[in-house]
Amino acid sequence: MAIIGIDLGTTYSAVAALDDRGRPFTVPNRDGEILTPSAVYLAPDGSAVVGQAALDLELEQPDRVATLVKRRMGQPDYGRPIAGRSFRPEVLSAIILKKLAQDAEAQLGPIDGCVITVPAYFDDTRRKATMDAGRIAGLNVIDILDEPSAAALAYALQSGDRIAQTETVLVYDLGGGTFDVTLVKLSPQRFQVLAIEGDVRLGGRDWDERLVNWGADKFLREYGEDPRLDPQSLAGLYAAAERTKRALSKLEHATLTVAHAGRKSTYPIPRPEFEAITRDLMTRTRLTTQQLLKQTQLTWDDVSKVLLVGGSTHMPACARMLYELTGRRADHSLAVSEVVARGAALHAGIRIETTPTEKLRRAIGPQLAEVIEINVNAHSLGVAVRRGHERINDKLIPKNTPLPAVAERVYYTVTDNQSRVRVQILQGEALPAEACIAVGECWIEGLPPQLPKGSPVRVHCGVAANGRIEVTATDQTSGRAASVTIHRPGGLSDEELAHATQWVRLLSVQ
Ligand SMILES: Nc1ncnc2c1ncn2[C@@H]1O[C@H](COP(=O)(O)OP(=O)(O)OP(=O)(O)O)[C@@H](O)[C@H]1O
Ligand SMILES: [Mg+2]
Repeated sequence: MAIIGIDLGTTYSAVAALDDRGRPFTVPNRDGEILTPSAVYLAPDGSAVVGQAALDLELEQPDRVATLVKRRMGQPDYGRPIAGRSFRPEVLSAIILKKLAQDAEAQLGPIDGCVITVPAYFDDTRRKATMDAGRIAGLNVIDILDEPSAAALAYALQSGDRIAQTETVLVYDLGGGTFDVTLVKLSPQRFQVLAIEGDVRLGGRDWDERLVNWGADKFLREYGEDPRLDPQSLAGLYAAAERTKRALSKLEHATLTVAHAGRKSTYPIPRPEFEAITRDLMTRTRLTTQQLLKQTQLTWDDVSKVLLVGGSTHMPACARMLYELTGRRADHSLAVSEVVARGAALHAGIRIETTPTEKLRRAIGPQLAEVIEINVNAHSLGVAVRRGHERINDKLIPKNTPLPAVAERVYYTVTDNQSRVRVQILQGEALPAEACIAVGECWIEGLPPQLPKGSPVRVHCGVAANGRIEVTATDQTSGRAASVTIHRPGGLSDEELAHATQWVRLLSVQ
């Protein structure tokens, strides 16, 4: 009986499972690697290749390879055709998940369930897309979990007796494509997220891009030709830039080699220059971190620990910036690239523990049953209301409210003789309704005739600990009510889901 945690990353993915004492361990892929590049190659024979081999093939056949799929999650398609076909990001992610599960299965036996992690700052559409990707891959997705929560959970349970009393921990997670900062309150058996901030489009890839442009500009000046205009040269340049960036995490000096149109040049780059061309990116993470603290009304003195998560925190500038900002030396006790998958495996264990399946209970051991997890909503939840000629977002449950949460408010009908009322639920911080994401709606039909304008309608909104949103709207005059349960809505229909699942099931993935 195996359950796994999957860190489905923008650039790298990892899988972890629990041993028979409930402790997490990372499961290497078939090549013996802890991390699998999140890259998909679609071969002319109709099969797929995932991982390092797909990245290698990108240099030769960039139009057959999809990378950075996570950045497209929640969008209707990948943005460009792969092997001449248009794909939904869910389907490409499902191919990656199928490979990860397949490799894990070879070592653990059949996989009964999994938890997949997402950036804390993912909205419902992106979460739903991730859940769907898991289903399309044929997996039983027990839950979707925030990456920083996973990291903090792994830290808390791994540290065991080291956490004697309550600690407030800052989790700074800079990965390949996303940035999240989270404040978490930990005690031995209790785990509470206090606040979340983030940037879904900031990660190591942006540092690579700066180096790519730096090198390409030098090459252009030298030869009058731009390697960025050729997809193969560009793919090669990105790979070289990533290697240079990694070298600069260890060394004061490195070089970047640019090859294009039969020519090749190597340019030396010292670390301070790399830090100078990427300074604004680091500053963005600093501002987001400050913003997070501001929301909690805590000071840095209240924060006892700074945890680094994500491959990009290897860059020395991260720990330095955080030290300047917080006065705390960052904690390096965690394997920054594995901790999220391990936390996901723990969460899967906790969730399974609280379900009354005796067989599973025996398989995991009782200690996880004691752990209490408390989460917050990463985005405000509101109702679309008319104000003058505008439709605005009337916030019912503000962001960073501990879950579960409920809120109630009375609204009024806008015209005489209204026969039905539509209650539209929005997610987001903006005031105009159009700037928010419509996560669902309900209608109260068959209102009594001759209802005057301004009749009260009571809207009750609840968010459960797992993020499930429930809304009930009641017309106070007739007592008529309508309700909806919104569980990560939007995206694929059941039919599309079934179709994609069938396709991926038949796809040979290596
Ligand atoms: N030694 C290093 N120095 C600098 N950057 C590094 C180093 N090692 C890895 N990285 C960068 O870390 C990123 C990958 O980190 P990680 O695996 O945590 O991200 P991910 O899970 O793919 O992305 P995300 O969490 O944003 O979805 C890549 O951009 C990679 O270049
Ligand atoms: Mg990650």
